[in-house]
Amino acid sequence: MLNPQILTPYDIAGRSLRNRLAVAPMTRVSATETGHATQEMARYYERFSQGGFGLVITEGIYTDQKHSQGYPFQPGITDEQQAQAWQMVTNTIHAHQGAVFAQLMHAGALSQGNRFVDFPAAPSALRPKGEQMKFYYGSGQYPLPRAMTEEDIADAIEGFSQAAIRSIRSAKFDGIEIHGANGYLLDQFLTEYTNRREDRWGGSVQARMYLTLEVVKAVRKAIGAVPVGVRISQSKVNDYEHKWAEGEQAAEVIFGSLSDAGVDFIHVTEFEAWKPAFPAGNTSLVSLSRRYAPQVALIANGGLHTPEHALSVMEEGADIIAIGKAALANPDMPRRLAGNEALDEFDSSILGPIANIKSSELALV
Ligand SMILES: Cc1cc2nc3c(=O)[nH]c(=O)nc-3n(C[C@H](O)[C@H](O)[C@H](O)COP(=O)(O)O)c2cc1C
Repeated sequence: MLNPQILTPYDIAGRSLRNRLAVAPMTRVSATETGHATQEMARYYERFSQGGFGLVITEGIYTDQKHSQGYPFQPGITDEQQAQAWQMVTNTIHAHQGAVFAQLMHAGALSQGNRFVDFPAAPSALRPKGEQMKFYYGSGQYPLPRAMTEEDIADAIEGFSQAAIRSIRSAKFDGIEIHGANGYLLDQFLTEYTNRREDRWGGSVQARMYLTLEVVKAVRKAIGAVPVGVRISQSKVNDYEHKWAEGEQAAEVIFGSLSDAGVDFIHVTEFEAWKPAFPAGNTSLVSLSRRYAPQVALIANGGLHTPEHALSVMEEGADIIAIGKAALANPDMPRRLAGNEALDEFDSSILGPIANIKSSELALV
């Protein structure tokens, strides 16, 4: 059964979306070696807006020519040329009456390919858990990162704000999503076991959240009244089962401080977003975000392609539903839902052996 609310328009900080279905950010390592978006990427992204998605959130885009790049063939927005290349993507989405937000990302310790520097930078000099992701051209352990100095931190913040300016002014994106989730730099600062700092950037949850809030402040100052939000998760690409050490108290600090910082939206992601966030308790991260950031637009993601689950998180306060893998299988998902048509199953072979865009993803929808 279709949840009809999902196809109704929604206004996010003055930008109107034709419905509440968004494409979740998905890295596809398909840019040029020098980080420029391509025609192929424009076509890949176009299909989602052709198929009816109100909003597309791009893959994680690196922000500076220092430590932010995470993978080979990842797109960047670190200079005017890279920003101009993104216009191919934004123009085509706008031509189909879609909106598109740039996801700005700093990989921190989880960098497995950076053509600007020889070593990753992180809150503390600790080797990340797990192994590099093969489908993004990685292999073996992550390298040992260096602990960031005050100057490195200032550079990272400046990288986000300059990338945001280029995203809005040159690339013509409609908004900015700051990647604060999934184990990358901002999440490394937030996480107690990757942030062992004893200065103002480490310690309590408040202190560990400080860098994310400084990035929000800098981006807001740089671009003004344009939709700006932050993606938040517990899980990490290299630590899937992670739960916040401080449980619900962390949720209160994280969502409350983002709300106080004046973000326009919070994007929460969990493996199955409708489930309780913590083993003890029955409240989802969606509910907690709604509770502690009551006025902020809420995007929910994680296994929400069935109408029942989408409805259940909307009842808990989500305004927009972001779809990842099921959007790869069904770039025309909104159109199918409106027509009561069945969805195709996601086939993971599309992401192998490398997660780059495949020719089948360029066909007509
Ligand atoms: C191939 C692939 C690449 C991804 N890249 C990113 C990314 O760049 N940034 C991000 O925040 N999440 C990324 N994700 C996570 C998705 O946005 C989403 O959270 C995840 O797929 C769960 O949603 P789903 O159940 O609808 O697929 C990626 C997921 C996949 C499958």
